Amino acid sequence: MKNKSYFEKGEANAWFQRNKQALEQNASDAPTTLLIEWLQPFMRDIDTALEIGCGTGHRVHQIAQGLGAKASGVEPSKEAVTYISETFPEIIAKVGFGDDIPFSGAFDLVHLGFFLYLVDRKDYLRCVSEADRLLRPGGFLSIVDFDTPKPYSNPYAHQDGLYSHKHDNAAVFVASGLYTVINKYQFSHSAFHFDKDINERVSLTLLYKETEIFGG
Ligand SMILES: C[S@@+](CC[C@H](N)C(=O)[O-])C[C@H]1O[C@@H](n2cnc3c(N)ncnc32)[C@H](O)[C@@H]1O
Repeated sequence: MKNKSYFEKGEANAWFQRNKQALEQNASDAPTTLLIEWLQPFMRDIDTALEIGCGTGHRVHQIAQGLGAKASGVEPSKEAVTYISETFPEIIAKVGFGDDIPFSGAFDLVHLGFFLYLVDRKDYLRCVSEADRLLRPGGFLSIVDFDTPKPYSNPYAHQDGLYSHKHDNAAVFVASGLYTVINKYQFSHSAFHFDKDINERVSLTLLYKETEIFGG
């Protein structure tokens, strides 16, 4: 089975149920706080923020509060989307996957919220394309995810036959020539500092979607 159909058939709701309480107790997390700090000089340019893979909505809620922006989110778990509409009624949340996002328009900030490692490799470039479609030129793209010096995959902890895919995701956007890395902080899945263990490595990367160099 592929990751997407497993998430469609129940793992997205199971993830929500497993993590809801922890997220409620950690409503303000360190990487999101750092992202908001990096974006402070551009607050006036950021009116709309979309998180892809938004889970319980706590991260995009924190981002929106920190930047004074209107929040939207997309997430495969129907239970999570119902929870978001009850808990954060100001967030526009929709059920969907990163490779086919049920939003149109151009956001000022698109946040890829720790879901790319779950994307089947055959859908990966569609997710990149969807993120790009939804971000306006002159906008900001943030990515929090596993980040390794070379791409590789591990068995997914909750189901045999599925994989977590680890990769330098920002490099794919930069290779297009359309994005510039503004800031990057490399930390660990278990602590907020660099980890020598490649398997634990996570990063928060902030990118700018160029305009002027293309005359656009
Ligand atoms: C590790 S959680 C992160 C949730 C949230 N962004 C956070 O940081 O708390 C990954 C989330 O991505 C969702 N997800 C899984 N596959 C996805 C896909 N292909 N596209 C979008 N989201 C996906 C899961 O249902 C889950 O809510």
